[in-house]
Amino acid sequence: MALKEFNLEGKIAIVTGGSRGIGKGIVLVLAEAGADIVVVARSPNPVEQVAEEVRKMGRKSLPVPTDVTKADQVERMVEKTIAEFGKIDILVNNAGRSAPKPLVPLGYKTIYSELVPNFDKLITEEEWHEQIDMNLTSTFLVTRAVGPHMIRQRKGKIINITSNQSTKPFLFHIPYGSAKAGLNMFTKGLALEWARFNIHVNAIGSGLANTELGRMYVENEKLRESTLRAIPLRRLTEPRDMGLLTVYFASDASNNVTGQIIYCDGGLVIA
Ligand SMILES: NC(=O)c1ccc[n+]([C@@H]2O[C@H](COP(=O)([O-])OP(=O)(O)OC[C@H]3O[C@@H](n4cnc5c(N)ncnc54)[C@H](OP(=O)(O)O)[C@@H]3O)[C@@H](O)[C@H]2O)c1
Repeated sequence: MALKEFNLEGKIAIVTGGSRGIGKGIVLVLAEAGADIVVVARSPNPVEQVAEEVRKMGRKSLPVPTDVTKADQVERMVEKTIAEFGKIDILVNNAGRSAPKPLVPLGYKTIYSELVPNFDKLITEEEWHEQIDMNLTSTFLVTRAVGPHMIRQRKGKIINITSNQSTKPFLFHIPYGSAKAGLNMFTKGLALEWARFNIHVNAIGSGLANTELGRMYVENEKLRESTLRAIPLRRLTEPRDMGLLTVYFASDASNNVTGQIIYCDGGLVIA
């Protein structure tokens, strides 16, 4: 029999980047635990398809195509959510993107030289800002829009999806790793700031997953094998692994836990 603390029936969850990959995995497990879901990503069709999958599971779902790096679109998405459901219990800030590139050309070839366009060119300010906007500012924008509703409710669960790269440097990922490290501190700072409103803020650091983001690393045999060798549990991260941890942080099971970052990466972070 399922433990009652994990039951999410009647809860409203917003999941950014919920249309594929890890975000979709989180959507489906939250719905399995009982939550109704607002599915957020830019492309309308995949957002609608995932919402339909949720409805087939007997839950309500609202697809809201949104670019989470744009404040006006984010505000509209939250307004639509409130108009439809009247409250927001759970926010999962999952949308993110990585783009490997050294800060300046290094003068030698690596495996990434063939895999990444313009890898051997100077990193541009636009590329730097894109990584910070996508992996850190987006969470600020969505959380700022959702926060007043959770504060009014005196209750809320926020889960930020970070990476093991937030604490362990990976070659050629300085902008992404810096943004995710910032996301870790955002998580801790917000946990402190909003604890008095009974709002819990935690983060889950994914390891390498076979998603659109992770595909370049997984499909290249050399990169995949070297990564797998370094992972103590010798396995990639599955979207469902991330979904199960999200249910813990989204549910009453974690009511005494806030400001924490847990890594779901087969132990790579401690290797
Ligand atoms: N995969 C890995 O190996 C790995 C490892 C560590 C951490 N992570 C983290 O896990 C999270 C999910 O990654 P993933 O692998 O599932 O990526 P993914 O398969 O590329 O999916 C990304 C999701 O975010 C959405 N998205 C992208 N840009 C957006 C924007 N500006 N506004 C709104 N939605 C946007 C995408 O839909 P649209 O393109 O239609 O907008 C899609 O739904 C990210 O935060 C990532 O940093 C992943």
